Amino acid sequence: MKKATVIGVGNLGSCIAYELAARGIVTELVLIDLYRELAEGNAEDIAQAMAFRSNVEVTAGDYEDAEGSQVVIVTAGKPRTPDMKSRMDLLEANIRIIKSVASNLKKIREEPIVVTLTNPVDVMNYAMWKLTGFDRRRVIGSAGMLDSARFRRAISRKLDVPVLDVEAYVLGEHGDRQVPVFSRVAVKGEKRAFSDEERKEITEEIRQSALNVISKKGGTVYAPASNTVNMVRMILEDVPGLAVCSVVLDGEYGLKDISIGVPVELSREGVKRIFEWKLDEDEKAIFYKGAENLKKVIKTVM
Ligand code: LAC
Repeated sequence: MKKATVIGVGNLGSCIAYELAARGIVTELVLIDLYRELAEGNAEDIAQAMAFRSNVEVTAGDYEDAEGSQVVIVTAGKPRTPDMKSRMDLLEANIRIIKSVASNLKKIREEPIVVTLTNPVDVMNYAMWKLTGFDRRRVIGSAGMLDSARFRRAISRKLDVPVLDVEAYVLGEHGDRQVPVFSRVAVKGEKRAFSDEERKEITEEIRQSALNVISKKGGTVYAPASNTVNMVRMILEDVPGLAVCSVVLDGEYGLKDISIGVPVELSREGVKRIFEWKLDEDEKAIFYKGAENLKKVIKTVM
C-alpha cells in the first residue's frame, strides 16, 4: 500500500495529486483543504479520471485520514502573484498556515515524510521541521529540482541540445540567491564550461523563470508539480536517486539550523545521504549569502 496525503489542493496541489494517481505512484490518496468542497471536488474529479487506468482510492479527508501516509505533501498557503518581486513577500501569511499544518501533522501517530512546497519554501520547511519535531531527514522542501529543471531547459535552449542530454543542478536558496552549479554541468556526459557572459545570461533567465510564467498564467503549476512528483516517486517506490531538496542542515556545508537546497540521495527513508559538493568561488559566495539571508529571515519567524 502506497499512501500519500496532499494538504492544499488548489491548482498546484491538485496537479500533484492527479500526477501521483495517473503515474500509478500511489494506491491511496487523501486530499485535505481548508475549503472542503474543493478537496471533495478534486477527489471526485481525479477518481473519475482513473476509472480506466488505476484502482487508486482518492478521497477528501481531514488530518486523521492522513494516518498511514508514507508521504504528506504540503502546498497550503498563499501563492506568489505577479506583483511579488520575491517569495519572501509571502512570509507573514504563510508562516501562520504552516504553524497550523505542523500542529496537525504532529498528531499523526506514524511519522510521515513531509514534502513542503509552501513559499518561501526554505523558511517554511525549516519551520515545518522545528514545529513537528520530525526527523530532519524526513522533512524535505521541494524546489531545487524545479530550479534545476529550469537550469537544464535554459542550457538546452542556449546550446540547442535536447534537454535530456543536459545534466545540471541548482543549489541554495529557492529565490534570488539560488546557485546554478555551472562548474558541474555536463552535456551528453561531457563537462561543459561557460563564459562569464553565458553564466550571467542563464542565471538571470532562470531567476526570472517563475515570475515569467506567473505573469502570463497567474501561477506556476506543471513544473513544480512534476518535479515534486519525481521526488515523491523516489521515496514511495524506493528508487533511490539524486535530488536537490531543501533540507535542515546540522553541520553539512558548515551550516546548522537552516533549511537550504543541497544535493541528496532520496529513498523510502527520506534523505538517505547529503552530498557536500565542491563549489567554485562564485558559487560558494552566492550559496553562503543565501544561507545568511535565510538565517536572518528564520530568526524573524521562529
Ligand atoms: C516557483 C514557485 C513554486 O518557483 O516558487 O515556481
